[in-house]
Amino acid sequence: MRVSEAIKSRRSMRVFKSDPVPRADIEWIISTATRAASNGNLQPWKLYVTTSKARQRLSAAILKAMDDGDNGRKNYDFFDAPVGMILCVDRRMGNGQWIDCGIFLDQLMLLAREKGLHTCPQAAFSRYQHVVRRELKIPDDQVVICGLALGKADPDEVPNNLITERAPIQDFVRWYTE
Ligand SMILES: Cc1cc2nc3c(=O)[nH]c(=O)nc-3n(C[C@H](O)[C@H](O)[C@H](O)COP(=O)(O)O)c2cc1C
Repeated sequence: MRVSEAIKSRRSMRVFKSDPVPRADIEWIISTATRAASNGNLQPWKLYVTTSKARQRLSAAILKAMDDGDNGRKNYDFFDAPVGMILCVDRRMGNGQWIDCGIFLDQLMLLAREKGLHTCPQAAFSRYQHVVRRELKIPDDQVVICGLALGKADPDEVPNNLITERAPIQDFVRWYTE
């Protein structure tokens, strides 16, 4: 798969199939994503991967703790994806390391495409990070950036078929030539 194909076929999926993802594929995606550039090669990302019962338990704990009126129920169930990841960074880290984590997150999403898988990045998990930390025994000195749903998804199914718009580059690029 060409890089541009991975980029163009990546979009946030919000309906996943239950088919499990082989552990070897998850490990390949993560280990290849570590080739991401990072400030000073600090590699500040911390990743917590849940599958099967652990994935269900995390979702159940958040759904139980959820505020009334929070309508993000599907989010906290990773949109039924078989793999739910939580991306964290040390609290002491600055903007540069958050950017590094963003690059790493994108590499995960693009590499998933090469394995025929889809993703949805989910900042919703940061809202209930006290629950996420408790369930996954994440140390207090780490902050939850976001979740990431990973699995198989039918791109033609509603709402997976939603193609979001992008601003044309003249809206945000300024050229200097002389
Ligand atoms: C860091 C980050 C956090 C996001 N959090 C959520 C989320 O909590 N729930 C959700 O449904 N989508 C979430 N999204 C997906 C965005 O809504 C989506 O990327 C954007 O609308 C563009 O659509 P596309 O990903 O299909 O191209 C998030 C995206 C990013 C990059």
